[in-house]
Amino acid sequence: MKTLTVNLGDRSYPIYVGDGILGRLGEFLQRAGLRGKVVVVTNPTVARLYLDPVNEILARAGFASVSVLVPDGEEHKNLDSLAMIYDHLVRARLERKSSVVALGGGVVGDLAGFAAATYLRGLPYVQVPTTLLAQVDSSVGGKTGVNHREGKNLIGAFYQPRLVLIDVHMLDTLPRRELVAGLAEVIKYGIIEDAELFHVLEDKIERLIHLDRELLIRVIATSCAIKARVVEQDEREDDYRAVLNFGHTLGHALEAATGYSEFLHGEAVGVGIAKATAISARQGFCDRRSLERIRGLIEKAGLPADLPKSVTVENLIQGLEVDKKSTGGKIKFVMCAGIGKTRFHSLSPAEILASLDS
Ligand SMILES: NC(=O)c1ccc[n+]([C@@H]2O[C@H](COP(=O)([O-])OP(=O)(O)OC[C@H]3O[C@@H](n4cnc5c(N)ncnc54)[C@H](O)[C@@H]3O)[C@@H](O)[C@H]2O)c1
Ligand SMILES: [Zn+2]
Repeated sequence: MKTLTVNLGDRSYPIYVGDGILGRLGEFLQRAGLRGKVVVVTNPTVARLYLDPVNEILARAGFASVSVLVPDGEEHKNLDSLAMIYDHLVRARLERKSSVVALGGGVVGDLAGFAAATYLRGLPYVQVPTTLLAQVDSSVGGKTGVNHREGKNLIGAFYQPRLVLIDVHMLDTLPRRELVAGLAEVIKYGIIEDAELFHVLEDKIERLIHLDRELLIRVIATSCAIKARVVEQDEREDDYRAVLNFGHTLGHALEAATGYSEFLHGEAVGVGIAKATAISARQGFCDRRSLERIRGLIEKAGLPADLPKSVTVENLIQGLEVDKKSTGGKIKFVMCAGIGKTRFHSLSPAEILASLDS
């Protein structure tokens, strides 16, 4: 098992990454000073696989648990699900050291985290991420929230968990398409911060997809460490944290242009990374060789690297214009300046689209 720390003063917390460590959840909660009641937020898909063992583990460690099941799917990351979670929190009569455990992917994590951030002005919460995307990205860094019909993640709060427990064994049941989508974020970390991680991925991506446990632990821990270092420097995304949006400006626009139904988030990010790198090369930030390697790795992972024929550059404009990062008509675009390096560069939506090759 690897243990990392997110260093944020009195809000610091550990991330445990290991194989088969779910059984230690009770021990880790105790170590974090949590007692009494635990409300486990999950969904029916994850509950069927893991809720009974989680309840047993908690009971063995002396915790009384109740569970809340929100419906599965991004379309349920909304205020209705949140209201349902609050109802359960009220009914459970939580006391001061009670906590919320998010057991699931990013949807459950964002919902449970936001409920914890706001109920009684803040209850401790714990992330037990069960998708690769949640293990390397959404469970770390404290962004919580829900969607509004006018846009994704419009309602939310920065609120850090007390601990994150990542058990790679839980990826055994994850559909392969979801696993591969999560790899897009791992590739992103290599590109923005860590040429060595990128090289490991080039070498061993098949072994990762086949769930080599040791390699998963290493790659997930490295990814979490990169995200932790970025969040430590700029927790509330005043400036540098935006580096994590590499590949996401176009990725989000593509998700919006296809009605959030054609691509999983990570798949759209695969296209976004390939295109952002191509733009970086065209603008003189990135060398040809890095561009080829990045495109090559996206394809090797089994992620899409091109816009589908059905999506035109014009379709993407709208998505780019509502991008939260755009200010004064320009977008703070993250450029790749070679593998392991980035630069921020302001571009208008028109400039971004003009430099797309296809
Ligand atoms: N807070 C952040 O910093 C942050 C960062 C990135 C993404 N997000 C959010 O995360 C969400 C996407 O998360 P996601 O990709 O994990 O999607 P998800 O939570 O919808 O999970 C994907 C699917 O996998 C199922 N599943 C989860 N774990 C499983 C397991 N172990 N075995 C079998 N099936 C399993 C889920 O039920 C779901 O059907 C989006 O809402 C996005 O906005 C948040
Ligand atoms: Zn992402």
